[in-house]
Amino acid sequence: MTPSSSLVHKLEDYKPSPWLTPEVDLRFELDLNQTVVRADYQVVLASESIQPIFLNGESIEFLSLRIDGAIVDPGDYQVSSSGILIPNPPKPSFRLTIENRISPAGNTSLEGLYKSGSMLCTQNEPEGFRKIVYSIDRPDNMMRFRVTISGEVSLFPVMLSNGNLLDERVMGGKREVLWEDPFPKPSYLFALVAGELVETKDFFTTRSGRKITLKIFVEKGNEEKVSFAFDSLKKAMRWDEDTFGLEYDLDLFMIVAVEDFNMGAMENKGLNLFNAKLVLADKKSATDESFEAILAVIAHEYFHNWTGNRVTLRNWFNLTLKEGLTVFRDQWFTEDMTDPAVKRIKDVLFLKEFQFPEDQGPMSHPILPKSYKEMNNFYTVTVYEKGAEVIRLVSELIGRDKFKKGLQHYLSKYDGQGVTFEEFISSMEEVTGGPIPYLRNWYHRSGTPLLSVKEHYAKDSNEWILDITDTGSGEYPLVFSNSLAVFDRKGTILKEEKRLMSGAHDQIRFSALDENGTKPIISLFRSLSSPIRLDYNQTEEEKQILAKVETDGVSRFFAFQNLIFDWFRKSLESGLEEKFSIILETIADSFERNWDKTYHSFYLSFPGLTQISENIGCYEFQKIQKLRIFAIQTISTTFSNQFQTIFEENRKTIPVQSKEEIGKRRLKNICLYYLLYHPSKRFERLAVAEQREAKHMSEEVSAMKFLLEVDSIEKDKSVQLFFEKWKHDNLVLDVWFAAQVGTGENRLGIAKQLENHPQFNIRNPNKVRSLYFSLARNPLTFHKEDGSGYSFIAERIKTLNEINPQMAAALTKLYSPVSKQKGELPEIAKRELETLSSLPNLSKELGEIVGTILTSL
Ligand code: ARG
Ligand code: ZN
Repeated sequence: MTPSSSLVHKLEDYKPSPWLTPEVDLRFELDLNQTVVRADYQVVLASESIQPIFLNGESIEFLSLRIDGAIVDPGDYQVSSSGILIPNPPKPSFRLTIENRISPAGNTSLEGLYKSGSMLCTQNEPEGFRKIVYSIDRPDNMMRFRVTISGEVSLFPVMLSNGNLLDERVMGGKREVLWEDPFPKPSYLFALVAGELVETKDFFTTRSGRKITLKIFVEKGNEEKVSFAFDSLKKAMRWDEDTFGLEYDLDLFMIVAVEDFNMGAMENKGLNLFNAKLVLADKKSATDESFEAILAVIAHEYFHNWTGNRVTLRNWFNLTLKEGLTVFRDQWFTEDMTDPAVKRIKDVLFLKEFQFPEDQGPMSHPILPKSYKEMNNFYTVTVYEKGAEVIRLVSELIGRDKFKKGLQHYLSKYDGQGVTFEEFISSMEEVTGGPIPYLRNWYHRSGTPLLSVKEHYAKDSNEWILDITDTGSGEYPLVFSNSLAVFDRKGTILKEEKRLMSGAHDQIRFSALDENGTKPIISLFRSLSSPIRLDYNQTEEEKQILAKVETDGVSRFFAFQNLIFDWFRKSLESGLEEKFSIILETIADSFERNWDKTYHSFYLSFPGLTQISENIGCYEFQKIQKLRIFAIQTISTTFSNQFQTIFEENRKTIPVQSKEEIGKRRLKNICLYYLLYHPSKRFERLAVAEQREAKHMSEEVSAMKFLLEVDSIEKDKSVQLFFEKWKHDNLVLDVWFAAQVGTGENRLGIAKQLENHPQFNIRNPNKVRSLYFSLARNPLTFHKEDGSGYSFIAERIKTLNEINPQMAAALTKLYSPVSKQKGELPEIAKRELETLSSLPNLSKELGEIVGTILTSL
C-alpha cells in the first residue's frame, strides 16, 4: 500500500521519512494551460536500509523519470493517481529527475499552481506542492530550493519565488529568472508568482543595520492601497526585534495580493501571499476592522518567518505548534499597537462565538489532532485560537519575561529543524527550571473545560471557601492559571492574586468582609487567564458590581455581558420579558465613567443572536430575536438623549487610523445603532445622512448595515447608493453582498438574486464567503423551521465540491449546530448531508466533514 492511499492519518503511526531530498532544482516552463515542471532532486537515504521511495503527485500528468541522468525503465516504477512508487531504488544516494505537466488555468481548487486574475500563483500548505510536481511532500523533508522560471515576457513580466534573485535574462520574447533560497524549507513553504503585476517598494533597516527591501505586488490599479500594509509590516518587523530579539534573515521581503485565495494569507519564505482584502486598504474603501485585520495578518505571516519557517513542523498533527504560537504572537503585537483590554475583549469574544461551539460540537478535536483524513480540514479555530490560548496560558504560568527567554531558547536550539509541541514546551521548562505538570494534556484533551465553583461559609474561621472543580478532568487533568481579584460590597478592590491550579481541584479561602461573615465579591480567571467555561453562580448584585467597577476592563465587560445573558435565560424560562432595570442601570452608570471611547463602544454593543444563543445554550432563534429587539428598543428609548448627544459629539471624524478617531467612529456608530431601533423611527434620517456624508468606510458601511438590520424603508435606497458608488471595487462589493444576507429572516430570496448578479462569482472565495457563508451564519434564515436554508446551502456545496473542495468543506462545517435545532430541522439536515455524502465525485475534504457531522445526527 502506498502511503497516501491509506485513508486516515494517525498520529501514533508517524514515522520519519525514510528518504529525504535536501537539494532540489526546479524548472518551470510557464504556460496557462500546459506548464511543464522539472524537478531535479538530490535523494538521500535517511533510514538503515534501502526501501521503496514514494513521491506524492496528484492531478498532474507524468512525463518522464531519470536516475543520475538516465531514463529509467518504466517497469522499475509505478505511476498512480496519488504518486510514483519506486520499489527498488538503486543506491542510497542519487539524482532523481522527474518531469510532469500541469494546467494552472484549469485548476479551480486554488491549491497548487493556479491562475488568479492576471497572475499565476501557488498555495501549497499543507499538501498543494504535490499538485505541482512529484515530491516527498511532507514537512519533515526540508529542501534547499533553486528555482528557474521561464515564460513569455508579455504574459509574465514579473516572476517571483522564494529567497534571492540570482539571475534574470530575456531572450527572444522569453524571460528566464533564477531564484535561490539559502534556507532549507519544507515544500509547503515554496511559492511561485508570475504575471502582470505592479511592484511597490519600501525599506526597513534592521537593528543590526541591514537594509531590507520590502516589496508589495498588486494588480494594476491597486498601487495606491498599499501604504497601510507597508506600515504594518515595518511595525511588525520592529516589534519582533524589540520583543524577542528576532531579526529578518533575507535581504528581500515580498508580499503579493491575490484576488482568489482560499484563506487569509500564507507565510511562504520571503514571499508571503495574501488574500487581497488583507493587504489593500485606503480610508475611503476600508473599515477600521479591515485596517486592524491587515495589521494583524501582516504581522502574523511575518512572525511565521521564525515560528514556522526557521523552526518548522515535523508533521501536520503539530500544526498548532506554529499556528497557536504565531496567533498568540500577533495578538500580543496588536495589544501593544492598540489597546490591550479592547484587543483581549475581541479575542475572547471570537473564541466564545466560534471556538467554544466547535469544541462542543461534532467537529471537536484536541489542538493536536490524533487523526485526520484531509489536513485542509484542520485549519480550525481550535488549532489556531484555542492553540493560542494554550500558549497564552504558558505565558501566564511562567510570566512574559520568562516566556520571551523560552521562545529565544526554543528558536536557537531548534533552528533549521522540524519539531513538535514537545520541543516547545520543554524549551519553556528549561528556562523556568522545572517541569510544568499537566501542561501537555492541553494538547490531548478536546472540549472546553467546564470549571464549576461551589462556595460556602466557614463560621469558625469567618471565611468564604471556594471549591473549584474541573468537571471533565478524567484521563487528562490540566493546569490552569487563575488570575483573581477580591472586592468589597462597594466595589473597592482589596486584593489581586495569580493562582496556579494544578489538576482537577482547587480550594481558595477568602476572609469575610466583616465579623458578620459578609461575603467578598470575587472575580475569577480575569481576562480569561485560562481557556475555560466557568460555572459560578454569583448573585445579580455581585455581577453588577463587577460590571461597574472591575479594574480589569475585560472582566468588567464580560460581567456585563453575563447580566445580559442571565436576563435572556430568565425571560426565556418565564416566557415574559423579565425585569430589565439592572441592565439599564449598568448602562446609565457607564455614561458616567469616562472610559476610553473604543472600550465604551464595546461595552455598549449588544450581543448578536449567535452569541446569545451559544452563551445560554438555546437555539430558538425566533424567541431570542423577539427578546433581543425588546431589549434594544428599551435601551434605545431609555437613553435616546444620551445616544443623540454622543452621536453629535463624535459625528465629525477625521479619516485617519488613530486611536482617537477610531474610537469616535465606533462610539457614534453604536449610538446610531440604538437610535435606529427607536420605535418612532425618527432617527433613520441620521443614518441616511451618515452614509451620504461619510468620510470613512466605517461610517458608510455601518449606516447601510443598520438600515438593513432594522428593515428601514430607506434600506433599498441605501443599498442602491452604496452599489453605485462602489461597483468598481470588488473588495467593497464583498461587504455589500454580505450585508444583504447576514441578518434578518427570509434572506433566501435576495441571496438567489445576488448569486445571479454579474459581479458574483462562485469561483472567487471572497464572494462565496460574502454570500453563502454570511447566509449560513444568519441563524434566522439558515435554521428556518422549514429547512429551506439547509437545502439551499447544500445545493451550493454540491456545486463547490466540483470547483473548490476546500470551500465546500468549510461551508459544510456551518451545519455543525444542526443537531441542536428544534423540530424537523435535524432530520432535514441529515437528509441533505446524506445526499452530499453520496455525490459521485465526493472530495476527500467534503467527505470527511459530512461524515463527521452526520455522526451527530
Ligand atoms: N499558514 C497559513 C496561516 O498563516 C494558513 C494556511 C491555511 N491553509 C489551509 N489549507 N487552510 O495561517
Ligand atoms: Zn499562521
